[in-house]
Amino acid sequence: MEDGAVFKQNINRRHTASEKWDQADKLFGGNDLLPLWVADMDFAVPKAVTQALTERVRHGVYGYTFRTETYLNAVRKWMSERHDWTVDTKWICHSPGVVTALNLIIDALTKPGDKLLIQPPVYPPFSKTAKNQQRDLVLNPLVYQNGRYHIDFDDLKNKLSDPAVKLMLLCSPHNPVGRVWEKQELLRIATLARENHVLVVADEIHSDLVLPGHRHLPFASIAPDDYWIVCMAPSKTFNLAGLQMSTIFIANPELREKYQKQLQRFSLAEPNTLGLTAAEAAFLHGSEWLDQCLVTIQRNAEYVSNYLKSECPSLVMTPLEGTYLAWIDCRRLGLSDSGLKRMLVEDAHLALNPGVTFGSEGSGFVRMNLACPLSTIRQAMNQLHKAVDQLHQRKAIRK
Ligand SMILES: Cc1ncc(COP(=O)(O)O)c(C=O)c1O
Repeated sequence: MEDGAVFKQNINRRHTASEKWDQADKLFGGNDLLPLWVADMDFAVPKAVTQALTERVRHGVYGYTFRTETYLNAVRKWMSERHDWTVDTKWICHSPGVVTALNLIIDALTKPGDKLLIQPPVYPPFSKTAKNQQRDLVLNPLVYQNGRYHIDFDDLKNKLSDPAVKLMLLCSPHNPVGRVWEKQELLRIATLARENHVLVVADEIHSDLVLPGHRHLPFASIAPDDYWIVCMAPSKTFNLAGLQMSTIFIANPELREKYQKQLQRFSLAEPNTLGLTAAEAAFLHGSEWLDQCLVTIQRNAEYVSNYLKSECPSLVMTPLEGTYLAWIDCRRLGLSDSGLKRMLVEDAHLALNPGVTFGSEGSGFVRMNLACPLSTIRQAMNQLHKAVDQLHQRKAIRK
């Protein structure tokens, strides 16, 4: 049995080589910043994961490892139970990380000069991987209308009809805007991609982190053919990012063979021993923990949204449907992106992701990680409130 106390506990992560906690001051140029940036959680993992790891560590021998039938069946069971998606275990390919997989996929399945379509504001490695590999980017920016993000389908239709566009990177659910795409939206993407023979690579790493009232649909479960690749991982779901295990689903045998060759080429086909143990335990026994985690994320999201409405109305959080990342519109503060970052770091002592790092479409926004105890969220909100008050006072004096 999991107990909810794990989501209230303040675990000191400093001096654990935590990127989030130990690198924030250096990366953001601040001092004693409260870090709510990079997407990992401050929560301890499910008990079953710790138990499985402890037993494995006690064994004391950590040689080369392969993905066992038990692991592959655990993945299949999870997809069936959580997403009502039937997968064949032979579709399940390995990658240490999803970003690694995106790099391998782009390298293996497109050529320099091919165009890749992304929907900014979006997770920065989408554009970085394309640029690293000399692929041209085509943008289908999301449209922010009436407080919710939408896909501009006319623009998407137009851009996908360019024969040089070979691949679309779909972020589903979407980081950072928090949308969980609906069936009709996914169907329209699938239809347009099929008409134009564009490979859809759906990054569904946030697929398990969906709040009540919304449902994640794996792109593969609604696509009319097998011209897709779906990237998932236990890393976001169960806070296992440091253990480097991802699950890349490829049903099309030709695409799968090309991907597997690429994995072999860079000697990436074998999993991390502890990553495998943790992922298997999480998929088999992590359901209850995840349900409690989602309750915490929803409560934290409501807290932030309500707090901003009542105490800092110049900041507006967009509705969170999925992920644990709040996307906050700060444009009414009237600051430049560098001014906003300066205020957050120097006055609020917070490390939050500047929206502009997700593309120019994110200018004036910030992303805030909600996967931490409510006490941390409260502290962050108090610090933010004080900084915003100071800003308003400074502006009033200048008038
Ligand atoms: C959409 C998305 N894809 C991929 C990743 C990172 O995946 P990995 O650490 O497995 O490379 C993240 C992490 O925040 C993400 O939000």
